[in-house]
Amino acid sequence: MKPKVYVTRQVPEEGIAMLRQECEVEVWEEELPVPRDLLLDKVRDIDGLYCLLTERIDEELLKAASRLRVVSNMAVGYNNIDVAACSARGIPVGNTPGVLTDTTADLAFALLLAAARRIVEGMDYVRSGQWRTWGPMLLMGSDVHGATLGIVGFGRIGQTMARRARGFDMRVLYHDAYVSEADPALGAICVDLDTLLGESDFVTLHVPLTEETHHLIGEKELQRMKPTAVLVNTSRGEVVDPQALYGALRDRQIAYAALDVTEPEPIPADHPLLSLSNCLVVPHIGSASVATRTKMAIMAAENLLAGLRGDPLPHCVNPEAQS
Ligand code: DGY
Repeated sequence: MKPKVYVTRQVPEEGIAMLRQECEVEVWEEELPVPRDLLLDKVRDIDGLYCLLTERIDEELLKAASRLRVVSNMAVGYNNIDVAACSARGIPVGNTPGVLTDTTADLAFALLLAAARRIVEGMDYVRSGQWRTWGPMLLMGSDVHGATLGIVGFGRIGQTMARRARGFDMRVLYHDAYVSEADPALGAICVDLDTLLGESDFVTLHVPLTEETHHLIGEKELQRMKPTAVLVNTSRGEVVDPQALYGALRDRQIAYAALDVTEPEPIPADHPLLSLSNCLVVPHIGSASVATRTKMAIMAAENLLAGLRGDPLPHCVNPEAQS
């Protein structure tokens, strides 16, 4: 009998095809996430769960999934999963690190440039028929070249941002609770968070969401930033306190925010942040290139298949579960 696998959304076919070769596969094909009640029902008789950051994998779900042998998250982040609860049941959890690093850094840099040069405001201006002449004072923004970039979280994506920044002759500062020495070729200076916030023209967030990083950027931190500064977030929405951010943008304590991730997510269309012309929001598309999402789908399939065979997962966040 083939093992049974549930896939919680349509993902690039390359990943699904790999699963079909060895497993009985069911895919939730709707655009919106599988309703919780249905998911709890579906997991009752599956051996492997192939899920996304939109599914909460917690005690309740694990209790229902008595046959479950492996969880594979098609994302590098896994704050949607109670990893300790999986480990306690000997269930390995896979993720997809590495393949999305450059693509996510590309998007973070795109947001930074778009905010600095007011690209979205410019498009709105043209589209609404307001462009009537070349204006010497029209939509003036700030220079990226030669500016100071503050990178909060200096893991794979943070370091890739430093590499991008070199091409723009930026001065690069970084802060990371765990990394204090970095490759000197990156030309990045390690500072405390206060210094980084006070000196940076652009602050970009690349930390995982944990208890320590929840609302890491709140009222006090936003007050430390320059009134001309831009905040970029492609990590997790909950790293920034949205109420504090709204106040800081409204009162021009900081100049701009460019967000790929929000709290809550998705952000409702009537959320106060969306009423501000100095806040740019895109719908969590950091890793959304065809090539990268395909690699993520394959990597997540490899993790799942390894777990079903009882082999070590190529990318496992809780290796202790298999020992
Ligand atoms: C991740 O992988 O954690 C991203 O947020 C989605 O690609």
